[in-house]
Amino acid sequence: MKAIALTEFGDAEVMSLQELPDPLLGPDQVLVEVRAAGVNPVDTKIRAGYLRGLMPHHTPLIPGWDVAGVVRAVGIGVQAWKPGDEVLAYARKDHVQFGAYGELISLPDRLVARKPSTVDFVTAAALPLAGLTALQSLKAIGAGSGDVVLVHAAAGGVGHLQVQIARVLGASRVIGTASPRNHDFVRSLGAEPVAYGDALVDAVAELVGGDGLVDAVADNAGGLAFDQSLRLVRDRARMTSIVDGPRALENGVVNTWARPDAEQTRWLVDLVADGRLRVEVQQTFPLEEAVKAHKLLEGGHVRGKVVLTV
Ligand SMILES: NC(=O)c1ccc[n+]([C@@H]2O[C@H](COP(=O)([O-])OP(=O)(O)OC[C@H]3O[C@@H](n4cnc5c(N)ncnc54)[C@H](OP(=O)(O)O)[C@@H]3O)[C@@H](O)[C@H]2O)c1
Repeated sequence: MKAIALTEFGDAEVMSLQELPDPLLGPDQVLVEVRAAGVNPVDTKIRAGYLRGLMPHHTPLIPGWDVAGVVRAVGIGVQAWKPGDEVLAYARKDHVQFGAYGELISLPDRLVARKPSTVDFVTAAALPLAGLTALQSLKAIGAGSGDVVLVHAAAGGVGHLQVQIARVLGASRVIGTASPRNHDFVRSLGAEPVAYGDALVDAVAELVGGDGLVDAVADNAGGLAFDQSLRLVRDRARMTSIVDGPRALENGVVNTWARPDAEQTRWLVDLVADGRLRVEVQQTFPLEEAVKAHKLLEGGHVRGKVVLTV
């Protein structure tokens, strides 16, 4: 099969289109024809070699943890799926090697969720990792009913889904940080936009009124946003960070690392099918232009998601 792969770690140019053997199919796995693969910041970090201390990596390495496609074959132990089924998955495995940037991927059937026919493959591929991260980090701090929630990087892949999911979970108000050019977009998602930067603490305090504090914070940006959030949240146990694990642990903040979960993926994609969750895809690229997709994402200002089509 054709796939984007790398044999050494580095900048985007280490990736190239290669002819590689088709993935092998284990007894509890499904073999999926990839129609679209979501691009996530973690793919760029893996490509750069930054995650080698966290998980075993093997080359040639095909990046990509988000997939939407069609089941081609199933392993001997698989009953839930059959060839022709349309599926999506957060396809993170224990070893980093055979990802979604290729024509085929094999993955454990427990990771896979059914794709509703009304949700297209590009939208489906943009959803799992970012949607699960958004949902699991909100759940980790019990964000929901009646809460005023602050979401950082609200125009990004995780954030734009998280502001909407927070409302679905019952948050009374969601405040989202973004640059001014994204404020109308953030407003259209049901959140109150504020500009990030030095003036953020005062801006949020003024917006919420009263004691100027919020009930829950999802830090998807780190750095200054993390420090400011410590000053804005009423109770640090109700703040989570997906970017700064060590500092989260030092400060009594909840560190979230998203886990694959087929049931939650199904819940998310059903929200999309029902029109209650909007997935914004800024741009798609054909698989062979994965280098361009990584460069765009590494610019740090994508609105919503970037997706590769196969
Ligand atoms: N722990 C986990 O399980 C997990 C899971 C997913 C992602 N992550 C990490 O979380 C981070 C966010 O992921 P993502 O997919 O949402 O990234 P992304 O889509 O690339 O984020 C881009 C967004 O970030 C915004 N932004 C840039 N600088 C900002 C700042 N200083 N303050 C607030 N917003 C800012 C941009 O908004 P403007 O254009 O308006 O500036 C842009 O919309 C990444 O570092 C990623 O690796 C961790």
